[in-house]
Amino acid sequence: MSAGETDLGIVLGTRPEIIKLAPVINAAERRGAEYTVIHTGQHYSRTLDGVFFEQLELSPPAYNLDVGSDTHAAQTGAMVAEIERALLGETPETVVVHGDTNSALAGSVAASKLDTTLSHVEAGLRSFDRTMPEEVNRVVADHAADHLFAPTADSAATLREEGIPDERITVTGNTIVDAVTRHRDLAERKSTVLAEFGVAPGDFFLLTAHRAENVDDRDRFERLLAGVAECAATAEQPVIYPVHPRAAERIEAFDLDVPAGIRLVEPQSFLDFLRLETAARLVFTDSGGIQEEACILGTPCITLRDNTERPETVSVGANRVIGVEPDAIVAGARAAARAPRGWENPFGDGRAAERILDTVGIGTRRASAEEVTR
Ligand code: UD1
Ligand code: UDP
Repeated sequence: MSAGETDLGIVLGTRPEIIKLAPVINAAERRGAEYTVIHTGQHYSRTLDGVFFEQLELSPPAYNLDVGSDTHAAQTGAMVAEIERALLGETPETVVVHGDTNSALAGSVAASKLDTTLSHVEAGLRSFDRTMPEEVNRVVADHAADHLFAPTADSAATLREEGIPDERITVTGNTIVDAVTRHRDLAERKSTVLAEFGVAPGDFFLLTAHRAENVDDRDRFERLLAGVAECAATAEQPVIYPVHPRAAERIEAFDLDVPAGIRLVEPQSFLDFLRLETAARLVFTDSGGIQEEACILGTPCITLRDNTERPETVSVGANRVIGVEPDAIVAGARAAARAPRGWENPFGDGRAAERILDTVGIGTRRASAEEVTR
């Protein structure tokens, strides 16, 4: 395989990757770059996949590998083989992966075996908890990558401490700021989700919980729900919980009694979810991306985990990492409600995608080719 027939081979497979790589795809289109989107099929339910391609105005992916759900190794192994096949046909100059999912891991492994460079967007995040599948995935992607796009100076410092050469690292900001900047006003104007759920700004809580370490453990999941329900009961306000399919399955399999006050709803589209996040009194979450978004949107966040790979959100005063003990959740929510708002957004200026393409030479490479033929 000789690299360079296509500029970018973009590998994605899950909801957050679609949302956070959309700005890179949009920027590639603006620059007239040739790109191919390879969708692994890790997420396939319309509510986690198709709805985002439509709402973010992305063309359908050139490849859908249809890998679906399985054990980690079976899923990742199938993706590696299929991504390699697609890359051999496309010969991109660089393969772009995002974050820490099994799709990102598979894209990184496949690319690093071929004559192409690997670009890792959202590099240098660490929870320092190797029991989480995401931590292993992001470490492998970072150490395989040729271009590491760190969202903050702190994530770049982490990479340097791990011995990654400085010339591979660029601080870009996080592409979620690009996505939020583009869609926030649209969400405010277009979304009718608050009326649909019968809630007013500041008068409800928003919850998401889908991480394996929480929802696959019956006891943890129950404590988490009990803590959030207690906050809601004290405030006499409802909790809206858009339920990820993984959590929905666990609720059913464990036959969980979800406390009254927590309203289970379908996963939301990006615009509706942004509207809910902006209007919520407080966000409870174990999601990585939602910790960032709440911080960018100015809504206080309680993280229902024992650690975070987004410590910048905590340093600026937007986020509290609380775990799942009900008493701690109640105390954390009380402290968050009293704390001052108006913190700085630590994730950049919304031009991360442009910096990423500048660094891999998209645009500059095309300009110099034009100059040669002139
Ligand atoms: C994955 C990522 C996680 C990320 C999340 C984003 C890994 C290891 N985990 O977790 O880091 O936060 O995506 O949402 O990559 N399912 C459906 N429909 C789908 C996809 C999944 O019903 O479209 C169900 C299946 O029962 C599946 C389960 O959800 O077994 C888990 O899916 P999987 O892709 O393995 O991991 P996520 O929990 O989605
Ligand atoms: N999100 C959404 N609808 C929902 C829940 C989340 O659009 O019902 C978006 C959210 O705005 C954020 C992203 O999904 O951009 C976060 O993805 P997720 O929580 O699935 O994964 P993580 O960030 O934890 O990997």
